[in-house]
Amino acid sequence: MPKLTVQNLANKEVFVRQGQTVLKALQEEGQDWMHACGGKGRCTTCRIIVLQGMEHFAPLTACELKYREKGRIEDNERQTCQCTMVSGEAVVKVPEQTKLPHLNYS
Ligand code: FES
Repeated sequence: MPKLTVQNLANKEVFVRQGQTVLKALQEEGQDWMHACGGKGRCTTCRIIVLQGMEHFAPLTACELKYREKGRIEDNERQTCQCTMVSGEAVVKVPEQTKLPHLNYS
C-alpha cells in the first residue's frame, strides 16, 4: 500500500488506500490537518509540498490543474483533498502558511 511520510510532523507515516484521498488517509490516522473549505477543492489550504516520490501520486485532478494554472499550487505541491497515491513511498511536508497553530512542527 502506498505510504506517505510527513517530514515536518515528526516523520509521521500514513498508508493511503487505493482511491482514498491523502486528506482522508491523514484524518483516519487522527492527524489534524488544515482543510478550510472542508475538502471540496476550493481553497488549497490542504496542500502538501512533495519532497520525494511525486511519481507515486495519481495524475493531477481537474481541480488541481485549475489551481496550478492560476499559480495557487506549485509544481511540487498537491492538494491533499484531491490527490490519491498509486504506489510506492512519498515524503512530503506541510507548507509554512498552512501550519496549524496548536501543532508542533519540526
Ligand atoms: S481542503 Fe480546500 S482545497 Fe483541499
